[in-house]
Amino acid sequence: MTSQTLREARKYEEVLGKIIKKEERPQFHLTPRSGWMNDPNGFSYYREKYHMFYQYYPYESKWGPMHWGHAVSSDLLHWEYLPAALAPDEIYDMDGCYSGSAIDLPDGRQLLIYTGVSREHQGHGIHREVQTQCIAVGDGIDYEKYEKNPVLDVKDLPEGSSKADFRDPKIWKKEDGTYCCIVGNRPADGSGQILLYTSADGFRWEYKSILASNYNRFGKMWECPDFFELDGKWVLITSPQDMLPEGFEYHNGNGTLCLIGEFDEEAGTFREMHNQSIDYGIDFYAPQTVLTPDGRRVMIGWMQNWDSCGIRLPEERWFGQMSLPRELSVKDGRLYQAPIRELNAMRHDKVEYAGVTVSGTVWLEGIKGRRIDMELTIRPGDPENLYQKFAVRFAQNERYYTSISFRPRESILKVDRKFSGSRRASIHQRRSLVKMLNGELKLRIILDRFSVEVFVNGGEQVLSAAMYTEQEAEGVSFFADGAVNVDIVKYDLSQD
Ligand code: FRU
Repeated sequence: MTSQTLREARKYEEVLGKIIKKEERPQFHLTPRSGWMNDPNGFSYYREKYHMFYQYYPYESKWGPMHWGHAVSSDLLHWEYLPAALAPDEIYDMDGCYSGSAIDLPDGRQLLIYTGVSREHQGHGIHREVQTQCIAVGDGIDYEKYEKNPVLDVKDLPEGSSKADFRDPKIWKKEDGTYCCIVGNRPADGSGQILLYTSADGFRWEYKSILASNYNRFGKMWECPDFFELDGKWVLITSPQDMLPEGFEYHNGNGTLCLIGEFDEEAGTFREMHNQSIDYGIDFYAPQTVLTPDGRRVMIGWMQNWDSCGIRLPEERWFGQMSLPRELSVKDGRLYQAPIRELNAMRHDKVEYAGVTVSGTVWLEGIKGRRIDMELTIRPGDPENLYQKFAVRFAQNERYYTSISFRPRESILKVDRKFSGSRRASIHQRRSLVKMLNGELKLRIILDRFSVEVFVNGGEQVLSAAMYTEQEAEGVSFFADGAVNVDIVKYDLSQD
């Protein structure tokens, strides 16, 4: 039975979704059908399609009582909207259906597990959130909430753990057909921890262990965890709140964290061997992964950040977009990310320049556009005299530009959207420490109308940023202080 709240949301998004023109959205990055989007949810492959659900408030371009929006795709680049899947319409989730995940059941149905949010009165007009884990089961379009919800609540928490910060279940199936799920939580020290639960059937859950503890090292609360085996290691990804900066690795505020290590399945504990940021740009948060039918681990994040939401004006008809899907691997103990290979099929009209010398500003015939895929190999142009700075400027006209610049002496790569048209004083620049390989730096820069994603050195690092510059600003230019020698391969991504 579809509730009144869900019916209204479905009606509203259908009308509004049609009013938003195709050209007002990115071409291959998913945006909300109408209104607001945050985290990816329930990222899965079900009945021959990829499914992406998302944190959704259809009625306004700002965060509100959370629904789950829904879209499907065959290649993770072309998306088709389906009706919203969940609405906050039960006592246990009336303040929001927060983030969660999806898995298929042996009987062919799909199970969604999400966080139900309700409020508890504490007197003096003060309320506190209560977060529990809930289930809905469906056929890929309509989902029925389970009559025994919630399936995990305060009873299932270890001593001293917060029932107000207990969210974002990520489920997976083991080879023996049983299920595991991890949930973000806050222990008594105010930090973050990831709890592990097990289930024989996906419906009845049992507390197993604390998989990992933050001990206030990386921010505080850990949101949106994901956990998977990759290239012989175990990878725990999470999005910490309230981060303090650490060199160029971690920035203040809401960040992303990747821990690589080992999993003691018997004890249910993770042993960390390596830590790193997932994205070194401005806008990336709450990523979630799926295992594709051909065995690739693919990740999509919210290409936005709570600390920079003001970049888009509230009167816009949509807010929030997903990142490009990224194929993950572990190399030399580090997480690597490559743009999903399906993107190659969208490339056309190749323009190539080999060994161009850049000194001052250079414009090149055929290199422009707001939906492009461009590979650069950057090396010193004068072996005697190392250049000070190299920059590529794009989304450029007389008024605006966004840039990626590199200073080889410090090995710092910077994304800067200060002149992208934003009227807000939020973060517009971010620096990242990168490596040169044999004196060369390799960048793959992908633009899609409202964003830039830079894959550095074959995916060793990624920097993402949203930019809402008017689409007429489509110039691309190169700049060097000193002499740089650069190879350029550029494709348009502008065909459907
Ligand atoms: C992360 C998050 C999640 C929560 C959701 C609410 O961005 O705060 O922890 O489930 O957003 O919309």
